[in-house]
Amino acid sequence: IKGGALAGRHVLVTAGPTHEPIDPVRYIANRSSGKQGYAIAEALAALGARVTLVSGPVSLPTPAGVHRIDVESARDMAAAVETALPADVAVMVAAVADWRAETSAGQKIKKDGSGAPPVLPLAENPDILAGLARNPRRPRLLVGFAAETENVVDHAIAKRARKDADWIVANDVSGDVMGGDSNSIHIVTRTGVESWETMPKAEVAQRLATRIADEFA
Ligand code: C5P
Repeated sequence: IKGGALAGRHVLVTAGPTHEPIDPVRYIANRSSGKQGYAIAEALAALGARVTLVSGPVSLPTPAGVHRIDVESARDMAAAVETALPADVAVMVAAVADWRAETSAGQKIKKDGSGAPPVLPLAENPDILAGLARNPRRPRLLVGFAAETENVVDHAIAKRARKDADWIVANDVSGDVMGGDSNSIHIVTRTGVESWETMPKAEVAQRLATRIADEFA
């Protein structure tokens, strides 16, 4: 039996982008390396949690002691999250594509020679975080992320309320956060805002894991 502040707790983490197929060779995606989510999964496991990491397509090794489930699309991710329940904590770090192509073509879409580009009807993807907030098996602590380029805290406060998460970790991505190794975050809770200085993603992960463990102390 593992020791640690989160021993006996099941924590669900989503990370990476989702890929929404257009045809067999093309997709829609958000920009996400998966680094921050993977670091969080690793830090939670280091505190003794049983960690299920539902991951979109990334090129990162699976962190030690973490159970990883690979998915491609937002709908696949939503299904994998539901299957992984119940969980004490969910940390939704994935950069889920808001839209998918309404239909995915069975064969590669060809240029028709007319110069007119194809029209690509979109459909909205399920919001996995908001869905988990309404789920009868809602985790005791539900944490979302928000990547923002301006009015970071205000947007995060609104997002927390709209999605009914317990916390929103607001990420200031106006600098070189995407794919980089440092991050600047604010934690918006039901009662206030905690702002942290800029630090390496690994340290954000460790301190966030400790902050989560404090909720269960
Ligand atoms: O609305 P926005 O995409 O900025 O919200 C970000 C938060 O919501 C993140 O925690 C992200 O993982 C989650 N999310 C989700 N499903 C979506 C869109 C976002 O779980 N379809």
